[in-house]
Amino acid sequence: MDPNVRPETMERITSPELAQAFIDEQIAAVRKQVGDKKVLLALSGGVDSSVVAALLIKAIGDQLVCVHVNHGLLRKGEPEQVIRVFKEELGANLIYVDAVDRFLGKLAGVADPETKRKIIGKEFIDVFAEEASKLEGIKFLGQGTIYPDILESKDGIKAHHNVGGLPEGLDFELVEPIKLLYKDEVRVVGKALGLPDNMVYRQPFPGPGLGVRCTGAITRDRLEAVREADAIFREEIDKMDPTPWQYFVAIPDVKSTGIKDGKRYMGWAAVIRAVQTKDAVTAKSVEIPWTTLCTIRDRIIAEVPGINRVLWDFSDKPVATIEWE
Ligand code: XMP
Repeated sequence: MDPNVRPETMERITSPELAQAFIDEQIAAVRKQVGDKKVLLALSGGVDSSVVAALLIKAIGDQLVCVHVNHGLLRKGEPEQVIRVFKEELGANLIYVDAVDRFLGKLAGVADPETKRKIIGKEFIDVFAEEASKLEGIKFLGQGTIYPDILESKDGIKAHHNVGGLPEGLDFELVEPIKLLYKDEVRVVGKALGLPDNMVYRQPFPGPGLGVRCTGAITRDRLEAVREADAIFREEIDKMDPTPWQYFVAIPDVKSTGIKDGKRYMGWAAVIRAVQTKDAVTAKSVEIPWTTLCTIRDRIIAEVPGINRVLWDFSDKPVATIEWE
């Protein structure tokens, strides 16, 4: 039996009971695989790695070492939440790496989106490998691979970073307890593991993070403006019911004229975007009520230094992609 093929007999996990049965099964399997050895896990705070972390903590406790790399491109409050939930509440063995200066230094002056993506991806592996080399007795690498990652890699749709081998220099055996699960099942399992709703039902967030929403060459001041404006926008859109599939702010590298305290005020435009989709291949812009739009506009302009306009990107995909870069 191919371990990367979901058996036809496997029941879809839709209830807390089925989730619990899956968790119990995986705890036993992980304990058997790992024995008394150590497992290393890159914990981004995304749904998949968070569920794997919570599951492995239950299975092997202190034998799991989590590494959270803050590359400076995370959303407001994310590193703090990872530390609070995993270190303080779940008692994880968590190494927090502040790599903000390192990433932003490498990205300084780089305007091309794909080059930015490559730098972020490579730097991430380098930082992670450096942390791994400082530790002793690590035999395994935990990964939040899920079933669509395997299917998409197989079909040649995308070379998923979780599938197809480890980066050179990381010579570990893989522990992938959720690799046969679909995303909806991962969420049910995460809920059963006691993770907070805002982690379990988190909207998709790209690996390069705010880096692809601070278009062109990233500067610290514009990156901070994206982070703050995005937090305000999410706070207001979270009041909608249901919330859209994905919603965020991007700030293009353009300034326009404004006026503040009777003086010329050159500022950026915060672009707000909310979309609905099934699979991110096509997407429809979501209608936002006028009163909500006005609150968002007023708050962003009043609370975020450097912004003098708010624009609503209500383009569908295609032709516009979901992200700006
Ligand atoms: P686009 O912009 O291509 O995005 O319409 C489709 C979905 O993929 C996410 N996205 C990424 N995710 N690394 C990721 O992990 C990336 O480089 C990346 N680029 C886009 C995007 O947020 C959307 O959900």
